Amino acid sequence: MQSAFLFGTAVLALVRSASAATAQTFQPPASSPFAQSGNYTGKSNNTLQNGPVVPGKLFDRFIQVWFENTNYATAQSSPAFQNLSQYGQLLTGYYGVTHTSEPNYIAAAGGDFFGGYNDDFCASSLSRPSAPLTRPADAIPSNISTVVDLLEEKNISWAEYQENLPYDGYTGYNFTSYDYIAGTGTYTYYVRKHNPLIIFDSISNVTERALRIRNFNDFANDMSADAIPQWVFVTPNLVNDGHDTNVDFMGDWINYWLNPVLADERFNNNRTLILITFDENEVYSVNNNVWGFLIGGALPTNLVNTTDNTFYTHYSSLSTVQANWGLKSLGRQDTNATVNNVFSFVAEATGWKNNDLVGNSTALPLLNLTGGYPGPLNNEYYVQFAAPNMTAVGAGTGGVFVAPSLNTAITAASLSAPVNLTAMNETVPWANNPGYDYPNGTQSYTTSTGAPSPTTTTTTSGAGAAAAPAMILSLVAAGAMIALA
Ligand SMILES: *[C@@H]1O[C@H](CO)[C@@H](O)[C@H](O)[C@H]1NC(C)=O
Ligand SMILES: *[C@@H]1O[C@H](CO)[C@@H](O)[C@H](O)[C@H]1NC(C)=O
Ligand SMILES: *[C@@H]1O[C@H](CO)[C@@H](O)[C@H](O)[C@H]1NC(C)=O
Ligand SMILES: *[C@@H]1O[C@H](CO)[C@@H](O)[C@H](O)[C@H]1NC(C)=O
Ligand SMILES: *[C@@H]1O[C@H](CO)[C@@H](O)[C@H](O)[C@H]1NC(C)=O
Ligand SMILES: *[C@@H]1O[C@H](CO)[C@@H](O)[C@H](O)[C@H]1NC(C)=O
Ligand SMILES: *[C@@H]1O[C@H](CO)[C@@H](O)[C@H](O)[C@H]1NC(C)=O
Ligand SMILES: *[C@@H]1O[C@H](CO)[C@@H](O)[C@H](O)[C@H]1NC(C)=O
Ligand SMILES: *[C@@H]1O[C@H](CO)[C@@H](O)[C@H](O)[C@H]1NC(C)=O
Ligand SMILES: *[C@@H]1O[C@H](CO)[C@@H](O)[C@H](O)[C@H]1NC(C)=O
Ligand SMILES: *[C@@H]1O[C@H](CO)[C@@H](O)[C@H](O)[C@H]1NC(C)=O
Ligand SMILES: *[C@@H]1O[C@H](CO)[C@@H](O)[C@H](O)[C@H]1NC(C)=O
Repeated sequence: MQSAFLFGTAVLALVRSASAATAQTFQPPASSPFAQSGNYTGKSNNTLQNGPVVPGKLFDRFIQVWFENTNYATAQSSPAFQNLSQYGQLLTGYYGVTHTSEPNYIAAAGGDFFGGYNDDFCASSLSRPSAPLTRPADAIPSNISTVVDLLEEKNISWAEYQENLPYDGYTGYNFTSYDYIAGTGTYTYYVRKHNPLIIFDSISNVTERALRIRNFNDFANDMSADAIPQWVFVTPNLVNDGHDTNVDFMGDWINYWLNPVLADERFNNNRTLILITFDENEVYSVNNNVWGFLIGGALPTNLVNTTDNTFYTHYSSLSTVQANWGLKSLGRQDTNATVNNVFSFVAEATGWKNNDLVGNSTALPLLNLTGGYPGPLNNEYYVQFAAPNMTAVGAGTGGVFVAPSLNTAITAASLSAPVNLTAMNETVPWANNPGYDYPNGTQSYTTSTGAPSPTTTTTTSGAGAAAAPAMILSLVAAGAMIALA
């Protein structure tokens, strides 16, 4: 469900929330990517346990590494990115799907961004962007599925590596630790908004899943144990991913971290495909083209040092893994033929037919819009979570995944019109911190966030506040909604 609405000045009023770049000079956080570091909180003393490798059609391992907030041309102007691009296939037509950061990460995991438009722990409203964090956490209910459900059905191992995550499964909003660059004081290096899977209760409320969200000391440990799993999402910290810095800083991190691990068989073997990209571009006033890049031993050698201008989005990473392993789909935007093109060599080899859009086509959808999408994470245009499209056809072979507690009767078509919860002094029900965490490797409820929230999410896909008819009528009467699609 992703029809775009524009409402009044709200879209224009949204101010970019990313912090301005501060002048910092790259310093390595560890002696190498393969060494644990006291600059990260807590040593790793457990190795990831994975089952036997499940062969895919084109690759047996898919790794994503995401940088932050950079226009395509800016990345391509960097010597480090240019150098890297000779060793793989540059995707000139790759796009983020909206702004800000968090909805892009959510989309890559769940196949939709559910109307989200900010990075707040709380899904605070456009008109109250600095609402106090008393009802924190976008926490997507447990019957809303992710790529992990699809992978686990086929016993495909997975993990995230989040640099500076203090401990495995950490659910907090951010984490501040020793400022190893300044050599004094502290710095917020980890943020939840760049951690796609922790935002889904179906991951973060299940101990054995939550503990697969790991940090870079675990990465060093898993590398030495040759235990890097089959689906991997890597998030560098806020300086290394460019969020607080710039393309030169990212380039230094590429030379320090990425190039050495790309050269290591335990990360990149001849059955590995790696996607390197950005969550979103920097400038909202143009469409959301970002630098996308495929590298790895599984990329056919005739594609090395070439470019591909096929139109891809973050949903392409979902459709491509579905095609490769014959997975079910999520029945969301991962099955939307406008935005789910499969990476070309995988599409060709699996017989999947992409659309004909290329990255500089004037017919591309606008993916730079924000705030105007009705959804369960949009306070001012709130609708319930809908079940996936049960008849959707994905690039895999297996139909649509259905979570055990999903109410498939709540469809996109059956939803009530959006309501403005802000005007009712209410917050979306998913803006409660669920209250669980894993400080000792087992689930506990933190005292600061209280008991588990009483959201009524377990038996239906959508159970939020009912639409307030008077509100809807007044919006419609005022002509406040203009359907674009
Ligand atoms: C498919 O994607 C396009 C482009 O983002 C969008 O306009 C359209 O509404 C989507 N279709 C569905 C059914 O979500
Ligand atoms: C932490 O980072 C600083 C800056 O690069 C470095 O001097 C120091 O050796 C690092 N500490 C460890 C334990 O790697
Ligand atoms: C893992 O290391 C931490 C210290 O970093 C320690 O508190 C914990 O007891 C260790 N756990 C195991 C299972 O060894
Ligand atoms: C990549 O191709 C360019 C020409 O398009 C060439 O100059 C360069 O040497 C090539 N790089 C590698 C590593 O083969
Ligand atoms: C970290 O979280 C605290 C609230 O817990 C917030 O006040 C602060 O702005 C956040 N910092 C960053 C960089 O996200
Ligand atoms: C891929 O690597 C494996 C393990 O090193 C090796 O046995 C196999 O021959 C390689 N395959 C190709 C096509 O290079
Ligand atoms: C989105 O990009 C298009 C094409 O560059 C531009 O015309 C439009 O103004 C942008 N929209 C916003 C909200 O900035
Ligand atoms: C799009 O890019 C291709 C090269 O990749 C070029 O041939 C074509 O003219 C471009 N089209 C537009 C509309 O810019
Ligand atoms: C659901 O998927 C089917 C099959 O692709 C498609 O025909 C239908 O339009 C989709 N429905 C919605 C609401 O997107
Ligand atoms: C929602 O309500 C708030 C508070 O009354 C208002 O500022 C905002 O413009 C409304 N949003 C929409 C989309 O009508
Ligand atoms: C919302 O809260 C404000 C400030 O506390 C109050 O003035 C207003 O009457 C409330 N509106 C509703 C609809 O409860
Ligand atoms: C977390 O899981 C527990 C046990 O299954 C359940 O009682 C609780 O409601 C769940 N919390 C959320 C927010 O889903």
